[in-house]
Amino acid sequence: MATESLTELQNKPSQTRFIHLDCVDSTNTFLRQYHPQADETMTVTWADFQTAGRGQGKNHWESESGKNLTFSILAHPTNVKASEQYLLSMAGALAVKQSLDPYTSGISIKWPNDVYWHDLKISGTLIETTLSGASIRSFIFGIGINVNQTHFTSDAPNPVSLCQILGHEVEREPLLWSVAKRLQTMLDSIAEGKADSIRAAYRASLYRREGLHRYVDKDGPFMASIAEVADDGHIVLRREDGRLQAYAFKEVAFVVPSKQTDKLSFK
Ligand code: BTN
Repeated sequence: MATESLTELQNKPSQTRFIHLDCVDSTNTFLRQYHPQADETMTVTWADFQTAGRGQGKNHWESESGKNLTFSILAHPTNVKASEQYLLSMAGALAVKQSLDPYTSGISIKWPNDVYWHDLKISGTLIETTLSGASIRSFIFGIGINVNQTHFTSDAPNPVSLCQILGHEVEREPLLWSVAKRLQTMLDSIAEGKADSIRAAYRASLYRREGLHRYVDKDGPFMASIAEVADDGHIVLRREDGRLQAYAFKEVAFVVPSKQTDKLSFK
């Protein structure tokens, strides 16, 4: 275990309502139909099993019953314009990344908001926002974290769990509380107009933030480095010839080495 103390952030946060379900279709879908009480600043729904867990695009999210964290956080951010949606995405990814850091080194954020351990995916997120005019009224941050699953059967190319990394099972709830607390703290900072530290921490946490790597866009594969992730969420890649190109989500893919379980290092 890394040096940072787990105890403080692993206490259950107070202003947040936690709803635990044995089974649900999808925690995101559950929260879309949920009406919070007036004093509820954040609602977290977590389920032992989702019958229709949704991933990005048309993908299904694989999660063995009772083994992992599959949860959604409903929040009502203040001071976030619709055009700044990406700030919330940064905050969510960062909350997951920073919650995993105390368990192991090698955690990073793969643009836009997957969380990786080296070249393997440990967490994915699905964000759904509701707008009110030019502002964000509410957002649902649906998060799957692979915690104690050791065999993955879907065609996801590179899943990994904390248990596979550490060689032992991990208690799920303290990790859940840590994500919720960190996200709440970041939303408070955003509400106070102090979002620069979130942007800086996100950029410093990026997977492949240094060096030339392989990507593919509609014209084929190419080598590039990350020049920046803009505030609107576009990634700007610098090609080998120095040319800069900005991409929206799904316009470019990272070419990631395929999973080789024999190369996994156990602590
Ligand atoms: C991805 O494809 O990377 C996004 C995966 C998001 C999965 C989580 S699990 C909890 C929440 N409920 C869902 O149906 N999906 C998200």
